[in-house]
Formats: sequence, structure tokens, C-alpha cells
Amino acid sequence: METVTFRSGAYVPLEMHKARIVQRVNLEPVERRRDAMAEAGFNTFLLKNREVFLDMLTDSGVNAMSIEQQAAMLRADDSYAGSETFFRLEQALQDFFGTRFFLPTHQGRAAENVLANTFVSPGSVALMNFHFTTTKALITLLGGSVLELVSEAGLEIESDLAFKGDFDLTRLDAEIARLGPEKISFVRVEAGTNLIGGQPVSMANMRAVAARCKEAGILSVLDASLLADNLYFIKTREAECAERALVDITRELGQLFDVIYFSARKLGCVRGGGIVTNDEELYRRMRGFVPLFEGFLTYGGMSVREMEALAVGIQETLDFDVISQTPIFVRALTEELTSLGVPVVTPAGGLGCHLNAFKFLEHIPQDEYPAGALAAAVFIAGGIRGMERGTLSEQRNPDGSEQLAEMELVRLAFPKRVFTLSHVKYIADRVSWLFENRALVGGLRFVEEPETLRFFFGRLVPVNDWPDRLVAAFRRDFGDSL
Ligand code: F0G
Repeated sequence: METVTFRSGAYVPLEMHKARIVQRVNLEPVERRRDAMAEAGFNTFLLKNREVFLDMLTDSGVNAMSIEQQAAMLRADDSYAGSETFFRLEQALQDFFGTRFFLPTHQGRAAENVLANTFVSPGSVALMNFHFTTTKALITLLGGSVLELVSEAGLEIESDLAFKGDFDLTRLDAEIARLGPEKISFVRVEAGTNLIGGQPVSMANMRAVAARCKEAGILSVLDASLLADNLYFIKTREAECAERALVDITRELGQLFDVIYFSARKLGCVRGGGIVTNDEELYRRMRGFVPLFEGFLTYGGMSVREMEALAVGIQETLDFDVISQTPIFVRALTEELTSLGVPVVTPAGGLGCHLNAFKFLEHIPQDEYPAGALAAAVFIAGGIRGMERGTLSEQRNPDGSEQLAEMELVRLAFPKRVFTLSHVKYIADRVSWLFENRALVGGLRFVEEPETLRFFFGRLVPVNDWPDRLVAAFRRDFGDSL
């Protein structure tokens, strides 16, 4: 399904765009990178951009826009209520999902907040393939809980399964029978699945989950934040969909699920979010929370300029050359690292390349945060800012004990259309060097630990002087190089 192949047979991610606006980045010397990491409390969220060379923290809100998106921003119609911009965006979403109703929100978690406040009651359980940090935090804040039902293969870090984000349907049936529909707030499908490595969900699985919900009278919800990548995988890995038009697939999704929400910081490459549904009754139930939490119904906390760009970005999601850009770069880095012996999540998914910190730093106990230590070490080694996706990103249990994560990953996200093949080569070089010198890296411990979402602003220190030893090894091997 790739559009261009190379005579050598090598896998080359080919950009189907050209850069017309660029941003200068800095690469500081390794000593400065170590000091910057220490000043940031060994938490990559707290680094300053001026100290970062490749910002691979996330693809959220930092994707490159198209010239058509930029152009659309100029015609934004600003108004508290009833702007033309809103109706253009509403139309774009109606065309995309084939759904009738749209509620704008300022980002994805704001849509989750509206959903949670409408549908979660104390004691209720939300079933999902896998949780996302903000989703789970909002549900538990309202007294609900989350039960994860991803297929067993989803948690196998190295695999060749095409759709590791799929629900385990047998367990879904068993949980619906055990809990009963009244106790279930909703079933949420996250497509693709962020915390297990951007792994996609198949169309067949989504159909099966939605059908079970309909039969049992349970609300079905699709988190479409990562849908652009997931569409690429449906087209390229699910034979039945290979020849289908992308809009056919998105409209089928619009019919399958009762409610679809998304972070437009990812889907549509802007800064915003939203909820769509075909069900007027559900729309009315959710609607009241939008003016309360977000802003009036025709902007929902978004800037009208971003809304115009979103209307275009949504249409561009139906262009295969556009949606292929992240997955092909993730694959290029994943294959390069695999060939160098570095442990990564396979098969390559969407969103980013995921280093397997469990295996990379197997000498670090889980309560010393191997993925957090690896994220810090990757920054020191290369000025590359990734994100911890392991135990640090969990919340402690009510009794204060650690909730050890099922996976210890460091995500190197690919913001859409931002990085190039030479960046991929550089990352592979520095990360494989780090892998060879992994014995030098030690763990981390908290010195400041917030109760909620501690990974965002918690501060840590290394358990010994390992950052200094890493810098000395870097100088030994790279001489004066940055
Ligand atoms: N759902 C999924 C699957 C996400 O990946 C995110 C955000 C959200 C919901 C929340 O959306 O950030 O707009 O409020 N993921 C970002 C990330 C933060 O870096 O992966 P938001």
C-alpha cells in the first residue's frame, strides 16, 4: 500500500510534503543537557524548549499545519455565539463521521470531562481496551472505576500481531454478564491505544464491541484522538478495508458508536477537541456541561482560528498521503532500532516509537522508575525529549503503595510532518549508544510527588551519580561532538 518503493528495497519514509516554514532548534553540549535535566527534576515535562533538540514528548498540539489550514485561519468569523466558523466545522465533522450533532471543547480531556460528568456515577465501571491517563483520572474523580480488557497480545511488547489494541471479546462478554449493564457507565474504545505503544484497533473488533453494546443497551464511546494513525493501519493491515475509501470507514464509525470524542490537538492537527453523536437525546444530556466548563456551544473554549484550521485538518485526514506520515516514520525508527538490537515495542504502531525500558534497563527495579530514568538518559545522550509511559505515569494505590505499570515504556513521539530521516538516523545513533552503555544508568526517586497526575510536575533525583558517569562515557566515545 506504500505509494513509493525504492529500487534497493530499503524502507524509506518519504515525505509527501515540503517544508515552507521552519523553526531553528538548539543542540546543547552533553554537560548542559545533564544540568538541564537536573534542573527539570529529571522529569522531561519540566524541560525548557530552548534546551531541547528534538522534542518528541508528544504529538499533541505540535503537528505541522498545512498551508490550507493556515489560509483557512484568516477567514475565521469571531463571535461569542453563532459564528460561521462553527457551522463550517460542524459541517466538516458531519461529512467526516456522518453524525448530526457536534459539541466543541477546548481539548480532548475536556470532552472526557463532559462525558464523565454526564455518564459516570459513583460505583460505576467504564470498560475499555486500555485507559488513558486523563480519562482514568476524570472517571475516578467522579467515583467511577476503569476496567481494561485489551487482548492478551496487546500487552506483549514484542509481537507481530497487526491489531494489538483489540478488545478481548470473551472477557468483554464475561464482564458485561458479571457486572450487568446498569453498573457499566460506558464501553470506551481507544483507537489507537496510546499507553501500550500507539497500537491500532481493527474495524472488525470495533464492530464486534459496538454490536455487543447495542445488544446489552450499554453506551458505546469511541476515543478518536489517534484515529488518523488507526485509519492508516485499518487500510494497510485489514484486508477487507484495503480498497475502501477512508470516508467510508469514518462514516461507518460514526454509525457504530453512540458517542465519538477526540483531541483535535492530534486529530486535525490544531489545538482543540470535540464530541459528535447521532443521538439527539445524548446530545442534549451532554450539552449543558459545555457552556459550564468550556464556553458557549459554538466555540467550546477553542479559538475560531483553530476551528477553521480543524475543519480543513479533518478533511485532510481523508488523504492517505497525509495520514501515512506518522506511521511510516515510526516504522523507520522502530526498524532501525530493532536492527541495532535496541528493545522496542513491535510491530511499529502510531504516535511514536516506544522503547522498552523493562528490557533496556532490566537492572533498575520498577519502584525506581526505569522508564523515567531512561527518558532522562535519552535526553542527556542526545537532547531528545521523550515521555515516560510506565509506573511514574500511574497513580499510587489508595494505601500509598506503588501501582506498578504493566509496561515500562519511553515514547519518542513523532509530531506529524515535523522530523526528517536524518533525525531518525541521529536518534538511532544516540539511543543505540545509550543501550551499549546502559549499565551506567541508574534509577530515580521522588523528592516532590503530587497526588494527581504526578508525572506532569513531580520532581525526582538520581539514586546515585549516574548522570555524571554517563556524561564521562559520552565524552570518551564522542570527543568534542555535541
Ligand atoms: N485520549 C487519547 C487517546 C489521548 O492520546 C489524549 C492525549 C487524550 C485523550 C486527551 O486529549 O491532551 O487534548 O486533552 N494525549 C496526549 C499525549 C496528551 O501526549 O499522548 P488532550
